Amino acid sequence: MATTRGKLVALVTGGGSGIGRATAVRFAELGYSCVVADINEPNAKETLRMLQTPGIAVQVDVTMATSVEAMVTAAVQHFGRIDCAFNCAGVEPIDGKIADTPEDEFDRVMGVNAKGVWLCLKYEIAQMLQQEPVMSDPAKWADKPDVCRFRGVRGSIVNASSVAGLGVVPGTNASYCASKYAVLGLTQTAAAEYAKEGIRVNAVCPGLTATPMMDRALEKAPPGTEETLASLYPVGRIAAPEEVAQAVCWLCSDACPFTTGEHLKIAGGN
Ligand SMILES: NC(=O)c1ccc[n+]([C@@H]2O[C@H](COP(=O)([O-])OP(=O)(O)OC[C@H]3O[C@@H](n4cnc5c(N)ncnc54)[C@H](O)[C@@H]3O)[C@@H](O)[C@H]2O)c1
Repeated sequence: MATTRGKLVALVTGGGSGIGRATAVRFAELGYSCVVADINEPNAKETLRMLQTPGIAVQVDVTMATSVEAMVTAAVQHFGRIDCAFNCAGVEPIDGKIADTPEDEFDRVMGVNAKGVWLCLKYEIAQMLQQEPVMSDPAKWADKPDVCRFRGVRGSIVNASSVAGLGVVPGTNASYCASKYAVLGLTQTAAAEYAKEGIRVNAVCPGLTATPMMDRALEKAPPGTEETLASLYPVGRIAAPEEVAQAVCWLCSDACPFTTGEHLKIAGGN
């Protein structure tokens, strides 16, 4: 039995900074209650203060199963369910080609960016499977029972991949590329495994986006690098985190109930 839509709950990992923070703010603007999760608790609390809707800040290390499980438990104890999740926590790599990269650096990047997404999917999906599906607007679908067979949604998840998950980005370390390719594999597999249960899983692949992660990368680059990189995008500039946030919230929303296992490139025409 599907239930009707009430107050929706969104969980964002990496919510203390950059794209994650902008997405939590956007979810709140759309009326969602928010769980802002980050390894950096003060930053997660700062994001929380920017929100106009109810929310909680949760410290999480997405590389640890116990921590991710506790994050999901905290969300459910507070709000009763998780309708949407954006698995955005990520780290940038150190510079260097494969032969120059230490083994523990590969493990670090894969640990947060790939295993972290797998752990979040694991515990978020386990929770969503226990939730009653939400029928957002039953009247809208009433005359299409055979065509759409819209059964309602238990949950919708978006994972943060990157244009580095779609092809070679010159100068980008292979461990980061591998982690973002992995995110797309996890996204497509999870989407196929849980489609019939009413759980959608998609990914976003942003190009260069103005966040603290980008600032740290540019600090090490020669002057003028930002302008050079911006000129590679047909739109002539890099993205604002809010532009990625808009896409994430759309993918999570009931505007696209038949969209699952997809990735959306947000790269200014590149
Ligand atoms: N900025 C870009 O140009 C860009 C482009 C494509 C994809 N991305 C991806 O988008 C996501 C967000 O990037 P951003 O630019 O906003 O970076 P950011 O550094 O501003 O934010 C990342 C957040 O993740 C958190 N985090 C790191 N490790 C964590 C862990 N183990 N557990 C929980 N939280 C952890 C950090 O504390 C930080 O708040 C990342 O997955 C990144 O790879 C960024």
